Amino acid sequence: MAKQTAVFTCQHCAATYGKWQGQCDSCGEWNAILEESATDVTPKGLGLGKGRKVEFVPLDGEMKRAPRLLTGVAEFDRVTGGGLVPGSAILVGGDPGIGKSTILLQVAGAITKHASCAYISGEEAVDQIRMRADRLGLASSPVQLAAATNVRDIVATLDVANPPRLVVVDSIQTMYLDNLESAPGSVSQVRSTADTLIRLAKRRGFTIVLIGHVTKEGTIAGPRVLEHMVDTVLYFEGERGHQFRLLRAIKNRFGPTDEIGVFEMTDAGLMQVENPSALFLAERRDDVSGAAVFAGIEGTRPVLVEIQALVAPSALGTPRRAVIGWDSGRLAMVLAVLEARCGISLAGRDVYLNVAGGLRISEPAADLAVAAALVSAILDQPLAADTVIFGEIGLAGEVRSVSQADLRLKEAKKLGFEAAWAPPRRSKGRKKDTENSSRLRISEMRKLQDMIGLFDLSAGATGAAAEAAQ
Ligand code: TYD
Ligand code: MG
Repeated sequence: MAKQTAVFTCQHCAATYGKWQGQCDSCGEWNAILEESATDVTPKGLGLGKGRKVEFVPLDGEMKRAPRLLTGVAEFDRVTGGGLVPGSAILVGGDPGIGKSTILLQVAGAITKHASCAYISGEEAVDQIRMRADRLGLASSPVQLAAATNVRDIVATLDVANPPRLVVVDSIQTMYLDNLESAPGSVSQVRSTADTLIRLAKRRGFTIVLIGHVTKEGTIAGPRVLEHMVDTVLYFEGERGHQFRLLRAIKNRFGPTDEIGVFEMTDAGLMQVENPSALFLAERRDDVSGAAVFAGIEGTRPVLVEIQALVAPSALGTPRRAVIGWDSGRLAMVLAVLEARCGISLAGRDVYLNVAGGLRISEPAADLAVAAALVSAILDQPLAADTVIFGEIGLAGEVRSVSQADLRLKEAKKLGFEAAWAPPRRSKGRKKDTENSSRLRISEMRKLQDMIGLFDLSAGATGAAAEAAQ
């Protein structure tokens, strides 16, 4: 029997301490260290008899590969890399209220058309879930619904020869093991309940989806450890004020990461958005300065978005640089390159940059579009409405080529764009690929000045231009 001593565990990074302290040494988080019973924490030694010998096998042996299970929600299947893998564990994280329970109830409803599915809720009562199902038009789907939080009961129910093929647990923070003393949601509870459920899923060959809340810092509450335990980590994200939601694969042992699924929240649940570019460009006005259309790639799919810039005289000693949907460090770099290499100074002016629609872009390929939006705003000259822009900017002011240029151009063509500002093509010989995109007029940019040259910089252009160019 282990001695009962107290152990203090950081609820953020799971580091353990012998006594309480205000700040965690390992992750720097304040007030995250809580007392937990030492028996809850994994024992140091094995304290067991001799183990069995492990058998080694060659890499090319026979494989038992069960077919993937498509859920029937195409965007969800895309993000998981082509359907659910039997015996695997998926973590779906996201802010409270973003729509995690909604999407998984919809997935559960869709999958029951061809496979069994259980939905176990520790957050809501059965009546609440029924009400939601009714709203989603799923009331008659044969989803096996239960409200439960005790993992011992859940294991007793699912540890059978023929369990449901998909089990959704909403949420892992409400689940508990009654032999642990800590409260549900604490590191040791989340770790142990997840471990127990994942082992069961592996043993019985069903897919388990664990829903996890994300704290305001953006990590799944408490345990980062959870991300290591599961096969696939999906984040459900979106801006509160916007209708659309993105399901993004952060980790996937069975498919590509960075893949996104796009949904729109409506009165009747989440609708799949098959053409996200059309959604992001829906409210675009093409006669205003400071707006540029960026041809981006999210995962494996091209997405066109509008980048908006506003430049205004600043009343502050240190002008404001506000960025939504892009990296502020990257904006600082683009501003510095514009100033040092092109002589366009924004000192004394506030700069606001916004990715329209609430999308977050992390690709450096957006540099050129950001620069174009900024220059357009400074000169008060709208860009041609039929032009898409992409390219990475280097510190010397050079425009660098980016991946999947053809895919970007193809998407632009599909959406009716006629022209593109892009870096020089890397591979000249690949005629076939360029066939599609060659119907777009492509202005190749080798350096940032090439792009500035496409604006009207004549003396009479604008006062702002002359002022900025000084
Ligand atoms: P929910 O799935 O409960 O979020 P989570 O499980 O991530 O906490 O989603 C709740 C929000 O979604 C709530 O603010 C209402 C909204 N919603 C709709 O707009 N339409 C719908 O059909 C449903 C079911 C929810
Ligand atoms: Mg929920």
